[in-house]
Amino acid sequence: MNRSVKLATSLLFSAGLVLGVQTAAQAQTVEDGVFTQAQVDSGKVVYDASCKSCHNMRFYRDTLRSWNSQPLLYLWENILGTMPADNPGSLMYEEYTDVIAYILHENGFPTGDTPLDPDNGMEEISIVAP
Ligand code: HEC
Repeated sequence: MNRSVKLATSLLFSAGLVLGVQTAAQAQTVEDGVFTQAQVDSGKVVYDASCKSCHNMRFYRDTLRSWNSQPLLYLWENILGTMPADNPGSLMYEEYTDVIAYILHENGFPTGDTPLDPDNGMEEISIVAP
């Protein structure tokens, strides 16, 4: 490992500590099973009640395409700050997280054993165009 790689690694690691991220920077994508089936199931309920009326799944597919390779956390923050458009920020954090799990699943991404958690490693999960 050369000096600058070492430095970059330790910077990333300290950033992780500051944010309370437990894992060392480990690249993951939404293809790696980063949410659970339980989150998908709860997310569907939230989606049907709060998101379905204004967008169809095609819209989310296009959104995921335009967010290709961005951290999933940024999309979560964006949705949290702006949606539902008629009442932004009105859902609980967990509901936003579940709704993202549902949208990802509907776009063909797999479930896994570890729940998606905005406080834990979500910045290191990249979006992949469906
Ligand atoms: C009252 C209508 C309405 C509801 C309900 C609504 N949205 Fe939106 N949404 C909009 C509008 C308007 C825009 C911005 C214009 C556009 O891109 O179509 C938007 C944009 C978005 C975007 C694009 C963000 C970007 O920057 O690429 C996402 C993702 C999104 N909404 C997700 C959701 C989710 C998830 C829910 C449910 C929690 C939801 N929306 C509920 C109207 C709505």
